Amino acid sequence: MTAQQTGSSAPTGGDSLVALENVDKWFGELHVLQDINLRIRRGEVVVVIGPSGSGKSTLCRTINRLETIDKGAISLDGQPLPAEGKALAQLRAEVGMVFQSFNLFAHKTILENVTLGPIKVRGIAKAEAETRARELLDRVGVGHQAEKYPAQLSGGQQQRVAIARALAMEPKVMLFDEPTSALDPEMIKEVLDVMVDLAKRGMTMVVVTHEMGFARTAADRVVFMADGAIVEENTPEEFFGNPRSDRARDFLSKILTH
Ligand SMILES: Nc1ncnc2c1ncn2[C@@H]1O[C@H](COP(=O)(O)OP(=O)(O)OP(=O)(O)O)[C@@H](O)[C@H]1O
Ligand SMILES: [Mg+2]
Repeated sequence: MTAQQTGSSAPTGGDSLVALENVDKWFGELHVLQDINLRIRRGEVVVVIGPSGSGKSTLCRTINRLETIDKGAISLDGQPLPAEGKALAQLRAEVGMVFQSFNLFAHKTILENVTLGPIKVRGIAKAEAETRARELLDRVGVGHQAEKYPAQLSGGQQQRVAIARALAMEPKVMLFDEPTSALDPEMIKEVLDVMVDLAKRGMTMVVVTHEMGFARTAADRVVFMADGAIVEENTPEEFFGNPRSDRARDFLSKILTH
């Protein structure tokens, strides 16, 4: 730990687990991320919300370097994100990502989906990886499905496997990009329950979602984005109850009326 090293220059990002500092990104003419400053503390749960096209997915993707940035700096646990090679593979292992579509390997069993990363990337022995995978699958409620293939599971079950797969890498932070938006309504709760449990266990999480119930229950902070910028950030109570900007008020009035 470096906390006692007073007087020395702070590592990038200071005390934050994830730190974005003055981040800008363009897609051609489109200024998709505009001077983003965001620090995420260890154990913090941040919900990112905002209109379609505001840059939420792009923001997530820069944190595990699926997208590069044009200006500014991003650090994970005090280290700048590596650009390439082995260090980048290591970073990807430390940043778990769950997308809207489940992205499981169709030709591998549920158990194989969860053990693949730990065996290949972490170098963990197969038996140990399987024991750990079964624990994680039990935890997300699909332990009895371990020998099946993804297509034999419901969308909600597949998404819970995707969460278990990410957790199997023992990530420092988990990014969720609209993890429930492709699911039938009756399956949304079972996935959100797993996420709430993860939050309670102290996982650091960045969650793009419009699920207000989740935000109110689990988020420490809501970050509202519009047109590539962070317009407002606050506790869920304040943000939903008393939005300050016209953009946020307008957005909330739209999502609350349907
Ligand atoms: N690879 C790309 N090349 C060019 N433009 C892109 C690319 N990816 C995203 N964009 C554009 O960047 C903007 C932000 O996209 P992004 O996917 O981050 O938005 P979002 O907030 O996640 O939206 P949604 O709520 O619809 O998922 C959009 O205008 C999108 O069309
Ligand atoms: Mg998106």
